[in-house]
Amino acid sequence: MARISNEQIMEIRNSVSIVDIISEYVPLTQKGKNYFGLCPFHDDHNPSMSVSNEKQIYTCFVCGATGNVFTFLMEYEHLSFLEAVKLVANKTNISIDIDTGSKRTYSYLDKFYDMYDIAAKFYQNNLKTSSGTIGRKYLSDRGINAEIIKQFGVGVSFNGDKLYQMLKANGHDDKSILKSGLCNINENGCYDLFVNRIMFPLWNVEGKTVGFSGRIYDRDDSAKYVNSKESQIFKKGHLLYNYHHAKEHIRKAGQVIVVEGFMDVIALFKVGIKNVIATMGTAITSDQAQLIKRLSSNVILMFDGDKAGNKATIACGEELLKLGVTAKIVRLEDELDPDDYIDKYGVDRLKEHLDSPISLLDYKMFIYKEGKNLNNSDDVSNYIDNVIKELNLVKDKIVREIIIQKLSKETGVSVETLLSLLNKEELSTKVAITKPPKEKYKMQSKYEKAYERLLFYMLKYKEVIRLFDDSDVFIPVKEYRYLACEIISFYKKYGDINIADFIAYLGSKKELMEILSQIIMLPLPEEYSREEIDDYIKVLNDYTVEIEIKRLEGVLKECSVDTDRANIANQIMELRKGVDLDGNN
Ligand code: CTP
Ligand code: MN
Repeated sequence: MARISNEQIMEIRNSVSIVDIISEYVPLTQKGKNYFGLCPFHDDHNPSMSVSNEKQIYTCFVCGATGNVFTFLMEYEHLSFLEAVKLVANKTNISIDIDTGSKRTYSYLDKFYDMYDIAAKFYQNNLKTSSGTIGRKYLSDRGINAEIIKQFGVGVSFNGDKLYQMLKANGHDDKSILKSGLCNINENGCYDLFVNRIMFPLWNVEGKTVGFSGRIYDRDDSAKYVNSKESQIFKKGHLLYNYHHAKEHIRKAGQVIVVEGFMDVIALFKVGIKNVIATMGTAITSDQAQLIKRLSSNVILMFDGDKAGNKATIACGEELLKLGVTAKIVRLEDELDPDDYIDKYGVDRLKEHLDSPISLLDYKMFIYKEGKNLNNSDDVSNYIDNVIKELNLVKDKIVREIIIQKLSKETGVSVETLLSLLNKEELSTKVAITKPPKEKYKMQSKYEKAYERLLFYMLKYKEVIRLFDDSDVFIPVKEYRYLACEIISFYKKYGDINIADFIAYLGSKKELMEILSQIIMLPLPEEYSREEIDDYIKVLNDYTVEIEIKRLEGVLKECSVDTDRANIANQIMELRKGVDLDGNN
């Protein structure tokens, strides 16, 4: 997507009231200056979210959720920043072409969407015709009734050029039609690409049809599924099947279930489990992992029980872990997928699985054990090796303890021996992490206080931004330093500071948003005094000097030339004079 300026984003934000927008989702009641409602971002029973009309932000004093109208929609509707901006723009009269900067590509993409829309309706209609009888029978044999067909937009494709003709009749030219991947061309002309397949529309996160997957139903064919080829609007690795339908159910359930196949999504839907999305058989990409994280941090992976499913589970679990999401795993017996599992064992047994998912580590232990004979010493040694390698990545002492006990029981190898294997590798990581001495921690908190408070007041008063900028002060923690830089550049650009606009300006910089919300929430008085600001700046400046002193002391230790030593010692003394080393703050 998108070229949209910060000015436009601010204009959009300023043209709505956060109170109006949030009221569309959460009932709000006014109490004094602010409005209050149940916070939708945690299990709230007493209204703990306040919405400020004046500041145009919301804050929850229980879970800490905070932000402007865009972040609210991002969190609530699971949208990206630009999608949220677009949604707000749609609610106002501001017409902005957020999809792209250029009109030509825009109408080109529009054409694509239009063709896929026509195709979806065409396939769905086919299912109602007399030629659709076999297709209908196939679906009904699989327990897919009219309601499900409608919900998932299922259709059927036939041999011929009927879709091509329909696209033509709707004003699309051959070139675009061929580019769409819905039709092909040979010496006799254009013809429909999907032939005699049950057609499942694939949607992007907004719910627009961007591709199809066609399943064989009336003959043997090496390809069970044929998918649309990738296009500008269809990238398999960028979407998750059922995303837009499931997100509301995911929010309600507080959990997302990830499966491999869209038939599994449908099978679960049939039995009332609707917070489900599918990866559609490919190795999960980091984009998809991001999408999953956006939906919920409570993730259950329920992939097929076969070898490919095992591999996919581990890959997906690890991809999510990279984003800090600890997924839980359901392991289905008999190499079944969720669809077949329900057929064979019933919903209740599947639900039992969903109620007691296991950790990724426990899951890996199952996998490592598979096909091994734990009476064979080579197999045991190999198994232990694999588990210890995983365990060395685990920091949680309790988890380590539990796994070691379990491993000992399984293999008959004593806990002591297992621990000795573990400790050896742990030692090397331990040496690298030297704990900060207590004293240092105490000092650190003083600096923390200083830069957090500076940032707090910078977000409210341009005068404080100026004081900060003029002082050349250095914030020792990178993220906080970046935040200060962003505040300064916002101020230099717009001549003032306003939290709601600043949040829009930060846009999708998630790391900074987290720090920002933490700072906004600090329980500090509204007003500041000049002395305290000067004091915070001094504390930070002292810290910079202290670092320099430490550096010089290091140099001094190494130095053996007397004159140089005297010189360095002098420098240290000079620096010390200016610093309040005891720092009673
Ligand atoms: N898939 C694909 N191409 C294939 C096989 C599979 O794109 N040749 C994708 C499909 O999106 C499918 C998913 O991988 O939904 C899972 O594949 P699989 O487990 O083989 O299909 P099932 O969901 O079991 O489908 P069915 O029950 O109809 O056999
Ligand atoms: Mn299946």
